Amino acid sequence: MRLGKVLITGGAGFIGSQLLKRIIPHCKQIFVIDDLSTGQISAIPKTNKISFFKSCITNIDLLTDLLPHVDYIFHLACSNLLKSVINLERDFYVNFYGGFTLLRLAQKYCLNLKRFVYTSTASIYSDAEVLPTTEDHYKIRLPYAASKFATEHYCAVYYHLYKLPVCVLRLSNVFGPGQTTENPYCGVVAKFFAAAMAKKPLIIYGDGQQTRDFTYIDDVIDAILLAARKKEAIGQVYNVGTGCETSIQALAAEIMKITSYEKGAVIYKPARPIDIVFRRAIDAKKIQKELLWKSNFLLTEGLHATYQWLRRGDY
Ligand SMILES: NC(=O)c1ccc[n+]([C@@H]2O[C@H](COP(=O)([O-])OP(=O)(O)OC[C@H]3O[C@@H](n4cnc5c(N)ncnc54)[C@H](O)[C@@H]3O)[C@@H](O)[C@H]2O)c1
Repeated sequence: MRLGKVLITGGAGFIGSQLLKRIIPHCKQIFVIDDLSTGQISAIPKTNKISFFKSCITNIDLLTDLLPHVDYIFHLACSNLLKSVINLERDFYVNFYGGFTLLRLAQKYCLNLKRFVYTSTASIYSDAEVLPTTEDHYKIRLPYAASKFATEHYCAVYYHLYKLPVCVLRLSNVFGPGQTTENPYCGVVAKFFAAAMAKKPLIIYGDGQQTRDFTYIDDVIDAILLAARKKEAIGQVYNVGTGCETSIQALAAEIMKITSYEKGAVIYKPARPIDIVFRRAIDAKKIQKELLWKSNFLLTEGLHATYQWLRRGDY
């Protein structure tokens, strides 16, 4: 796999930093743009192949300088779901205007762009009527879903109008090494591990019966790289998930078992404004069939690998 020169937005975040680790051997040069609003500089591998820019993705001067040299763009920077209901303007600015700006300038300045991979989200399905949910559904209820879905639409616009080689991946509850509570908005798996390892109560919002489709980070990175490499991916939207539902209560019990904290406490708190999805499972048959992607990690395997990584503490 040869990737040449790459731009990763959000490269100091969970998924971006793991993508960086995987692609370094395959790249000539990697530009990372991240404003470190939730990401950590320490998450970025130390190599002279990486040039890091602490900046917002809407920095037009910076993009104008970098984009003419870029072969692949991985657009991962985002303002997350939890923040979106607190600050709708920020969500709109980063997730929608930021995504639009990147597409607009990629079309204008990238002379030889091979792929623009955009990581969208299963949040656009909200509480779907059909499970596992296929790509032709949507139900927009939260600002994060609206802004991420709007950028998906602009990916389609830039593909149809200008043949920009875009591919959209809708990810679902990604977990694994690289996800830590240093980002206070991180996912539930990292929060449960942090609590269990500190022998503190695990906090569940709502009754814990709500389900999610948890996807292991290595499987997600596989999907991102297939989206970049396979020509069939151009102009497409793919779900990336396992199709399996796991309740938050069951997740808590599994993590308590793995960390030998079976007798630990669980505290139930009222559901938050973002907790509107009762069941989630997404259908990944399209990416399995067209890009030959598969999920290699069962939830338990992924949780054990995450625990080993957390215990090593090399982050
Ligand atoms: N983690 C998941 O479960 C999940 C699920 C669905 C979709 N996604 C998508 O995957 C992508 C990566 O998610 P993640 O979990 O790594 O998130 P993350 O919060 O760990 O990383 C996002 C990064 O973007 C940076 N950032 C935020 N605003 C920025 C801005 N204005 N300019 C530059 N950088 C900015 C942050 O500092 C952070 O390093 C996002 O696009 C997200 O919507 C993630």
